[in-house]
Amino acid sequence: MDALDGNWAKATVRVEALEPAFATAAAAWAERLQLPPGGEAEFALQLGCDGLQLVELGPQAPGPVRVDFVEGAVAHRRLFGGGNGQMIAKAVGVQPGVRPVVLDATAGLGRDAFVLARLGCAMTLIERHPLIAALLEDGLLRAQIDPDVAPIVAQMHLLRGNAIDLMRAWQGEPPQVVYLDPMFPHRDKSASVKKEMRLFRPLVGDDDDAPALLEAALALATHRVVVKRPRKAPGIAGAQAGYALEGNASRFDIYPKKSLKPKAG
Ligand SMILES: C[S@@+](CC[C@H](N)C(=O)[O-])C[C@H]1O[C@@H](n2cnc3c(N)ncnc32)[C@H](O)[C@@H]1O
Repeated sequence: MDALDGNWAKATVRVEALEPAFATAAAAWAERLQLPPGGEAEFALQLGCDGLQLVELGPQAPGPVRVDFVEGAVAHRRLFGGGNGQMIAKAVGVQPGVRPVVLDATAGLGRDAFVLARLGCAMTLIERHPLIAALLEDGLLRAQIDPDVAPIVAQMHLLRGNAIDLMRAWQGEPPQVVYLDPMFPHRDKSASVKKEMRLFRPLVGDDDDAPALLEAALALATHRVVVKRPRKAPGIAGAQAGYALEGNASRFDIYPKKSLKPKAG
């Protein structure tokens, strides 16, 4: 599952160490992901003292992307970014005495999952793209050495693979909530489209199988499925959402199954 194959083979990626000290670890990533350790490529997966990062090569390319739960935007949101009042928290059903067990089946860079883990939700994350899963794994590992962030990432358990298959074959306790944020097919190149999304699109594509993902999520979640969409975008084809919460840029479509209640006692 770690190797780039199928559709993903369209983008060429090489692995490189940013300093000689990281050469061995970079070679290990190259072997694990079956990527070349050098040569002509459109993207580079680079390893250096800030961890693993992915960068598009070429003059017009946006800067590198890495997963950083300790510093930067994600850390800022952890420190100053509100609590249970955040729309994503309301969408998954966080309320006094309720911290749902959530499966984030489209983990990406783990930002939404981190927000929910920081509010106390036990999170399982699934990511199918080997490069994005590699960035996420590296970010989670680095976060474990920060005393403030370690307890949050301890609540985040990463699985690699296609969430449709993993949800259909789920063993054990099902999650109360399944959270979905598939790539949405829009071609906007403006600055408002985040650097990460511009970087991801040629690698990941448009997640055209979102309807099957929604169907599998609805079959598995015991209490609700939540889908994040751009505010004006249509819902995922298939089942109709029960209601939606709208923010400035995003909307959360909610597919309720059973109400989430505080635990008795
Ligand atoms: C828009 S990004 C998610 C961003 C994420 N919510 C965050 O906060 O960083 C969508 C991600 O879902 C992944 N994805 C889409 N469909 C998937 C599936 N069926 N199984 C696993 N991962 C999937 C894509 O590879 C991509 O990384």
